[in-house]
Amino acid sequence: MNEAALVREKVKDFGRYPFSIPAIRSLHSLELHPRVTFLVGENGMGKSTLVEAIAIAAGFNAEGGSKNFNFASRRSESELHTALRLVRGVRRPKTGYFLRAESYFNVATEIERLDREGGMGPPIIASYGGRSLHEQSHGESFIALVKNRFSANGFYVLDEPEAALSPQKQLSFLVAMHDLVRAATRNSSSPRTLPSSSLTRTRQSTCSGPRV
Ligand SMILES: Nc1ncnc2c1ncn2[C@@H]1O[C@H](COP(=O)(O)OP(=O)(O)OP(=O)(O)O)[C@@H](O)[C@H]1O
Ligand SMILES: [Mg+2]
Repeated sequence: MNEAALVREKVKDFGRYPFSIPAIRSLHSLELHPRVTFLVGENGMGKSTLVEAIAIAAGFNAEGGSKNFNFASRRSESELHTALRLVRGVRRPKTGYFLRAESYFNVATEIERLDREGGMGPPIIASYGGRSLHEQSHGESFIALVKNRFSANGFYVLDEPEAALSPQKQLSFLVAMHDLVRAATRNSSSPRTLPSSSLTRTRQSTCSGPRV
């Protein structure tokens, strides 16, 4: 993914949520770094709103998970995705995931439900390390996701991935992301990861001013 652009002609009312959020109201285009883009900003600046809209526009379930998930425990997504245009790169990501800390519990429940129903092929939980995500701590289940489910050449949209992690595990998480980027670079194609509210030396887009 190269860019997320707000198609301003599609916005009916910039005075209404989510378009009234200053960082969204002044958004024209957000360029995504070939490897990792971090959104950084104060609470309530609109990071989750933007990250969610990018994820939905990219085809992910609003509550998180892979593109194969299609569940909703409470419809709460904003309309922003309807006015967002994603500019895709030449290389298509091989995989992807939308991780949102606040609803990861619901993803874990959905995995258990689908695995109870059964179906063709191995259980879904196998690709998360095999151990029920509900039987792990919040932080452990995040690490299991990244270590087992994520792979190189993917498009990952992450909202507050650090929320459940201890300082030590936050470093492990950064190392895992770094390894994914390196693996993708070796394969001459890069993943695009979009975590909000973290810091890095790569390009940052700050939601604290009028422009994003
Ligand atoms: N459903 C809603 N209706 C109206 N306003 C909303 C709704 N959801 C969020 N907001 C407002 O939109 C703004 C942006 O919220 P958002 O959750 O995107 O912020 P954020 O940058 O992710 O904050 P945080 O760092 O606390 O996660 C906030 O002012 C919030 O109160
Ligand atoms: Mg948020």
